[in-house]
Amino acid sequence: MKLTRVKGFKGEVTVPGDKSISHRSIMLGSLAKGDTEVYGFLQGADCLSSIDCFSKMGVEIENKGDMVIIHGRGLHGLKASSDTLDVGNSGTTTRLMSGILAAQQFTSRVNGDASIQKRPMKRIMTPLSMMGADITSELSNDCAPLIINGKQLKGIHYDSPVASAQVKSAVLFAGLYAEGETSVTEPAVSRNHTELMFEEFGVDIKCQGKTATVKPAKELYAKKVVVPGDISSAAYFMVAGAITPNSQITIKNVGINPTRDGIVRVFEMMGADIQVEKTSGDIGEPTADITVSTSNLKGCVIGGDIIPTLIDEIPAIAILACFAEGETVIKDAQELKVKESNRIDVMVNNLKAMGADIEATDDGMIIRGGKQLHGAVIDSKLDHRIAMSFAVAAMNADGDTEIIGSECVDISYPKFYDDINKLKM
Ligand code: S3P
Repeated sequence: MKLTRVKGFKGEVTVPGDKSISHRSIMLGSLAKGDTEVYGFLQGADCLSSIDCFSKMGVEIENKGDMVIIHGRGLHGLKASSDTLDVGNSGTTTRLMSGILAAQQFTSRVNGDASIQKRPMKRIMTPLSMMGADITSELSNDCAPLIINGKQLKGIHYDSPVASAQVKSAVLFAGLYAEGETSVTEPAVSRNHTELMFEEFGVDIKCQGKTATVKPAKELYAKKVVVPGDISSAAYFMVAGAITPNSQITIKNVGINPTRDGIVRVFEMMGADIQVEKTSGDIGEPTADITVSTSNLKGCVIGGDIIPTLIDEIPAIAILACFAEGETVIKDAQELKVKESNRIDVMVNNLKAMGADIEATDDGMIIRGGKQLHGAVIDSKLDHRIAMSFAVAAMNADGDTEIIGSECVDISYPKFYDDINKLKM
C-alpha cells in the first residue's frame, strides 16, 4: 500500500470492539451454562481464531456480524478436537486457551502461524506445570506447537516474573478447575479484563493490589457482553489527531479501563489537546468519547508501572514522539521484543528509514522529536500495530511511503484504512 501526506483529519470514528475482551467473551461463553450474547465483538482474524478453536471443541457459536451467540457447554462440556487447534497469529488465544486445556480430560495440540511459533510459551508452561499440567513444546523450543495432555490441577500461588495479562489469565483460567485456591502476583498490574469478566460470569475472584485470587468454580453462568471500542485501535486516531495539522478527531465509545488507559496519561504528560468524556460503559468496563486535536507536544519519560497499561500502544506513541519537541524516553518495555514482531527493532529501523532521530535501547527506545519525516519503504513484518502506526506516520511525511504487508491490519482492525481515509480533509 502507498500512502502520502494529508491536509488534516476531521470527524468522528467508532473503532471496533476490544480484542482482549472479545477473546475472553468466547472463552467464558463457551465454559458457561446458557447462551452468551456478545455485542460489538471484534471481527478481526485473532478473535475469529478463538471462535474457530472453541467451535472445534464442540461449542456452537453463531457469528452474525456485530453480534455473536455462544451456546455454552458448561465448565466440563468441551470435547476433544480431532484437528490441531489453530490459533493463527493470536498469542492471547494460545496462552489463555492453554490454561483451559491443561485441565480438560483430553489431549490437545495447539499451533499457529510462523510468528506464533516463535513466541515464548515457557512463561505459561512454567506456572501451569507447577499446577500439575502436562504441557510440552513439540520441538522442545518452548514455543508452539504445544501438546497439552489434560490433568487434574492443584491451586498454587504464582509470583509472575512478568507483568503479563496473558500469563495471569492462563493461570486464573486453570484455577477454575484446580483443587484449592489459585493466585497470581504480578510485578505491575496488567490488564484486568479476565478478573472483571470472571466476576460477571459468577466466579469467586478477588483482587488486591497486584494479586488476583480465584476459587475453583462449580459452574459459570452466561451473561450478555457489550464490548467497548478498543483503546489500542483508538490509539492510531489519537496520534493522527495530535500530529496532523488542521485536525480534530473524536473516537466514540472507547474502553478506558485504568489498566489500559496509559496512553491517555501519556497524551496529558506530552501536553496534547485531548478531551475524555465518560460515557455509560457496561460489564464493569468504563468507556469514553475521546477527542484529540492538533497539538504542540513535548517529549517525556515513559517507564515503570505505566508500561503494562500501554504496552500495545507503544508503536503509536513512538510516532507521536517524533512530532514532539525534545526527547522521549521509553523504558522498562523489554516485553516489546516478544510481541507479534520485535517492536523495538522494527519501530527503530523503520523510523530511521523515514529520517527520525531514534535509537534502540535494551528495554525501549529514545526518540529526539522534531525531525521532518520523509517517505520510505516500511516492512510491517506482518505486525498489525506496526502497519497502522506507519500509516499515520506516512500521512505526515514528505513523499510516498509504501507499507509492505499492509493487509495484516486484518488481525485487529480489518476496516482501518477505510476508516482513516473517511476522516481525511
Ligand atoms: C493481551 C495482553 C497483552 C497484549 C496483548 C493482549 C491480553 O499481552 O500485548 O495484545 O488480551 O491479555 P501480555 O499480557 O503478554 O503483555
